[in-house]
Amino acid sequence: MTTIGHPIAETVRQDPAIPFDVERVRQDFPILRERAHGKPLVYLDNAATSQKPQVVIDTLTRYYRAENANIHRGIHYLSERATEAYEGARAAVARFLNAAEPREIVFVRSTTEAVNLVAQSYARPRLQPGDEVVISAMEHHSNIVPWQIVCEQTGAVLRVVPINDAGELVLEEYERLLGPRTRFVAMVHVSNALGTITPVRRIVELAHGRGVPVLLDGAQAAPRLPVDVRALDCDFYAFSGHKAYGPTGIGVLYGKAPLLEAMPPYQGGGDMILSVSFEKTLYNVIPFKFEAGTPHIAGGIGLGAAIGYLTGIGLERIAAYEHGLLAYATERVGAVPGIRLIGTAKEKTGILSFVVKGVHAHDVGTILDQEGIAIRTGHHCAQPVLQRFGVPATARASLAFYNTRAEIDALVAGLHKVRETFA
Ligand code: ALA
Repeated sequence: MTTIGHPIAETVRQDPAIPFDVERVRQDFPILRERAHGKPLVYLDNAATSQKPQVVIDTLTRYYRAENANIHRGIHYLSERATEAYEGARAAVARFLNAAEPREIVFVRSTTEAVNLVAQSYARPRLQPGDEVVISAMEHHSNIVPWQIVCEQTGAVLRVVPINDAGELVLEEYERLLGPRTRFVAMVHVSNALGTITPVRRIVELAHGRGVPVLLDGAQAAPRLPVDVRALDCDFYAFSGHKAYGPTGIGVLYGKAPLLEAMPPYQGGGDMILSVSFEKTLYNVIPFKFEAGTPHIAGGIGLGAAIGYLTGIGLERIAAYEHGLLAYATERVGAVPGIRLIGTAKEKTGILSFVVKGVHAHDVGTILDQEGIAIRTGHHCAQPVLQRFGVPATARASLAFYNTRAEIDALVAGLHKVRETFA
C-alpha cells in the first residue's frame, strides 16, 4: 500500500541556488494546459482560488482510493494510517507558520470560519457594552461581519482604521484608535481587493503595548509570503487551504496555546469531547476541542501536500518571483490608456485591481474571458474598500507563481481589445 504520511512534492524541489523556473513549475499544474473558449487558458483569478499541483490531486485520489477511514476513532490499520496522515498535515502546517506546537493549529473550513470561531469563542465572552474591536477599512467581508455580529451580541463597538489614497493603512490613525476600551484587533495581512501588505509586525506591537490581542487574516498572505507567527507574535492567524494550492473546504486557525485553552468550544459534537454524560461533558484538549464532527480529512491531508509543495519551492522564492511579475504587470497594465489602478501601496503583492474608463468591470471580464483570460470582477467581497475609492466594482487580475510575463502580455492585449470594443 502506498503511504500518504509524508506527501512532499519531490518533483518540484528546486535548489535555492538555481533561478526560479516558471516553465518547470507550470508542468506541475495540469489545469494550465486546458483551453478556454478555444484559447490557451490564462488563469489570473488566484486570489479567488488557486489551481492545484499534481501532487495535491494525487494525494486526494490516493487517500480515497487506498486509505479512506475515519480518524481518531478506529484501532484498525486504515484508521491509524488516515489519522497519521491528518496529524502529519497538522504538523506540516505548524512548521509552515512556525507555530510552537501542532496543537496550536485548528483545522476549520475556511478563513471565514476561523474568524467566526475567534469572534464567538474568544471575543464574545470578554466583550462588554462600549468595548471596542478595531479592524481596517480594507477588510474582506469575512473579517467585518463576524465582528459586527459579536458587537450586536455584546454591545461592543466596531472601530475602523482608515486607509490612504494608495490603499495603505494609516498607522497614526490606528495608534489613535487604540484606546482604553479596545479589546481586540482583527486585521488583514494582504488585502484581497488591493494587494496591500499591511505592517503586521507593527500592528501587533502597538496592540500588545496596550495589552490587546490580535488576529491576522492571512487568506491572501499565507500563499504569497513567508509567515512566521512567532516572529509576528500575533495571537491568532487564519488562512484557507484552497487559496494556498490545497483543497477547498479546509482552513487553518493558528492560536497561541494558552488562549485556545482558555476558550470554550465553538461547536459541540463528536471528537471535541473526552466524555459525555447527561450531567456533564468534559471537553477534549486543544486543538480537538474545536474540531467537532468528522473533519475534512482528505482536505487536511491535501493541504499537507500543498504545503509540502510550497515549502519545496520556498516561500521566499515565490514572493520574489511574484514581486517581479507584479512590477511588470503594474507597468504594462498601467500603461494601457484609460486604466486606473486601484491600490498602489508601496508594499504590495500580486493583486492588480483596476477600472477601465467608460467600461463596466463586468464587461471587461466578459471580453477577457472570450480571450481565455480568467479574472474576477465585482466588489471582491470587500464592498467598503471599493466605496473608499468611489467605485462599485473593479476588474482584478491576481497572480500566482505559475503565471508568466507572456500571460501578462495576453492580458494587456485583451485590455486593448476591451478599449477597441467600447471606443
Ligand atoms: N475572497 C476571495 C476573493 O478575493 C473569494 O476573490
